[in-house]
Amino acid sequence: AIFDASSDFHDVIRTIPDYPKPGIMFRDITTLLASPEAFRSAVDTMVAPYRSEGVALVAGIEARGFILGGAMSHQLAAGFVPIRKKGKLPHETIRVAYSLEYGVDEMEVHRDAVAPGTRVLLTDDLIATGGTAEAAVKLLRELGAEIVGACFVIDLPELGGRRKLEAMGVSVKTLVA
Ligand code: PRP
Ligand code: ADE
Repeated sequence: AIFDASSDFHDVIRTIPDYPKPGIMFRDITTLLASPEAFRSAVDTMVAPYRSEGVALVAGIEARGFILGGAMSHQLAAGFVPIRKKGKLPHETIRVAYSLEYGVDEMEVHRDAVAPGTRVLLTDDLIATGGTAEAAVKLLRELGAEIVGACFVIDLPELGGRRKLEAMGVSVKTLVA
């Protein structure tokens, strides 16, 4: 089916019950990404508010934030910075621990990835508890980034992530809740 102006992003996001753990309703965007129209529309909608915001870098959170963030960087003529799970980046890093809906982990960014004062847009596919995005904001701010905003395809509002980021002074935009 073609995704057009009358379509809804809800219709191209698949839900997998009990993945990766019992009780989690996993919101799977591979179906959205596989639709040429939906993927393009999602990226276009996500970047639209930031076209005149002087975004110099898009920071994408591993793993699905890389897919969206790469396309957004191209659209905004910005660079891209990967925020990765620990042990994946080759050069000197800064690291932060975080908890998420189904576990704990650490993520890191290259120490020289962002020059102080750089205008950075943060992205990922989904915000749940906000633990992952909060950790990314801490890393970027430690490097002196000015965070223009954070945008996601999906918000899980009952988990409070949006409020957590907004309490840190980060403006949040999402396509669907
Ligand atoms: C998912 C999602 C976000 C994070 C959101 O990634 O892509 O990065 O969880 O959860 P939070 O708001 O509660 O922190 P996941 O941790 O499953 O990792 P993956 O992208 O490597 O699969
Ligand atoms: N990350 C945290 N919770 C999630 C969910 N329910 N679906 C997909 N990714 C998630």
